[in-house]
Amino acid sequence: MNILLTPARIGPVEIPNRIVMPPMTTRTADGEGFVTDDTVAYYMARVSGGVGLITIEMASPERAGRHRRREIGVYDDRFLPGLTRLVNEIHQGGAKASIQLGHAGGHTRADICGETPIAPSAIAHPVYETTLATIVPEEMTPARIRETVQAFAAAAMRTQKAGFDCVEIHAAHGYLISQFHAPFENRRTDEYGGSLENRARFGLDVLRAVKAAVPGMAVIYRISVEDFFPGGMPCSEGNRIAIWAAEARADALHVTAGHYRSLPSAQIVIPPMIYPEATFLDFSAEVKKAVRIPVIAVGRLGDPATATAAVASGKADFVALGRTLIADPQWVQKLRRNEPIRRCLACNTCINEMRGGARIGCVVNGAAGRETLFSNPASPRGERIAVIGAGPAGLTYASLVTEGNEVTVFEKDKRPGGAFRYAGKAPLFQEVEASERSFDLYIADLVAACLRKGVVFRFDTDVATAAEVLAPFDRIVVATGAAYRFHLGSISTKALDWGVARWPGVSRLFSAPLFRHWFYYRARRATAGRFMRLAKPGQIVIAIGDAIRPGKSKEAIASAFEAALLPEPRSLGLSPVSQRSAAAPSGPVNA
Ligand SMILES: Cc1cc2nc3c(=O)[nH]c(=O)nc-3n(C[C@H](O)[C@H](O)[C@H](O)COP(=O)(O)O)c2cc1C
Repeated sequence: MNILLTPARIGPVEIPNRIVMPPMTTRTADGEGFVTDDTVAYYMARVSGGVGLITIEMASPERAGRHRRREIGVYDDRFLPGLTRLVNEIHQGGAKASIQLGHAGGHTRADICGETPIAPSAIAHPVYETTLATIVPEEMTPARIRETVQAFAAAAMRTQKAGFDCVEIHAAHGYLISQFHAPFENRRTDEYGGSLENRARFGLDVLRAVKAAVPGMAVIYRISVEDFFPGGMPCSEGNRIAIWAAEARADALHVTAGHYRSLPSAQIVIPPMIYPEATFLDFSAEVKKAVRIPVIAVGRLGDPATATAAVASGKADFVALGRTLIADPQWVQKLRRNEPIRRCLACNTCINEMRGGARIGCVVNGAAGRETLFSNPASPRGERIAVIGAGPAGLTYASLVTEGNEVTVFEKDKRPGGAFRYAGKAPLFQEVEASERSFDLYIADLVAACLRKGVVFRFDTDVATAAEVLAPFDRIVVATGAAYRFHLGSISTKALDWGVARWPGVSRLFSAPLFRHWFYYRARRATAGRFMRLAKPGQIVIAIGDAIRPGKSKEAIASAFEAALLPEPRSLGLSPVSQRSAAAPSGPVNA
């Protein structure tokens, strides 16, 4: 059996397998911080996917520490009923439940947390929300420090009351405890500043107070061992604190890295596609050599072989899969069945869109954050389905309707992937530096998943000139993408193939928002019309993705989810166009 599927303990708690969902803010709570149906549905999708330990996202132990709007509340008893419901459902689904207690410190604003932000020292902090504004928090007095330590302990007791098996203390990523670790942010001259021992004191006080408050519960200490900026904490010091946390009776260490002041950018906290797989695994391996408690590794471990090797090689006891489980909640079940996964692109749209106020979402998983919408899937059954176009929307649609149907994908090219094969050749995808490998792996896995479920591929087949191939089908799904105007198509694909978009001057152009908007949206036109006209009377015809309107990949793939799973496709604005063909339709079908 794969070692990831074997049980293991964290303190008193037996976890059914080695896969942990790390804390990830979703913004599915309501404005007050109460758990909503959407919160429950989001987490339950991952529970039913077989994850061993689900960590609920960062929740502040006191009001002053709330870091985002619609952050889950744990700082008051009135949140208990919602939290209890969430834990009960997670337990009924067979997983163990943890929650992260995280305090923003200086990394929030009064209009978000409702109070004056506090920090080890009164220095300017950038605030990661809808603006790039900085704030100057209030320096914590020793009495305020003790108050906050007690708030952590009280919040931990609340989580125990709600039924959680574990509680995680957030000592990472530049939030309050991590601000105490970093000399640049901690200018104190008392017993909480200066030497490493002093800078570690606040976090370890929190750990000891939480341990004392919740006997019988597993306490996990999540630490950034390396801050990646001068004035931050280097890993020699981070490793030392990890050892002290083990000595202070943490039941497990969750080893991460990065800080919102990291250089070259804060992106490294959630390493985007240009970073290597298993980005932080060597850090957890170092910690694991020095302690005798379980170590959880995190950071680009979503490739099943990479995750398996992380544990099999003894570099970690558990793997935490963040974006991977947003992209594919069924990852664990697929590992069990040895099936290809829906691979995360590491494009960081999930986190980057939050800056604009959005809730969690995903480019490749159109259901992420909208699980309630898809709670009663209504896919076609007993049909012969033709999908025209093997781009991401067409492949996604095909992969979602295999059960009980015969699905054939027609593609005029010799290879699958459509425009997505070129996305990795541009300098940027969404807001991150693009890497071809990420798109290649995603497409390869999607094709493999389709093949495994019996989808037939017919490459090198242009249905526009061989419409008779569509005759035997009950349903035709037009996923032909967008075409460039002004004969730009062949020029731009050749330029991308030759790597021109990465040349210094051209790269700047391709990275400019106005040019990108023109190049991806204005310079392209929808193609669905001519293909929808090929349908014969009685056939159902649906258009999805860029074939309806050139747009962003996220909306295009979301429309494939909606067309495949919803009885009445609703959308983020790009509704699949559907009709039953009574006679050959005429006129444009662009929505
Ligand atoms: C949308 C999103 C929200 C996150 N929120 C938190 C959080 O609340 N607390 C935390 O410690 N880390 C948070 N993280 C970081 C993840 O827990 C994890 O460390 C990171 O995504 C790297 O793991 P991955 O490569 O498996 O995604 C978040 C990451 C994402 C993508």
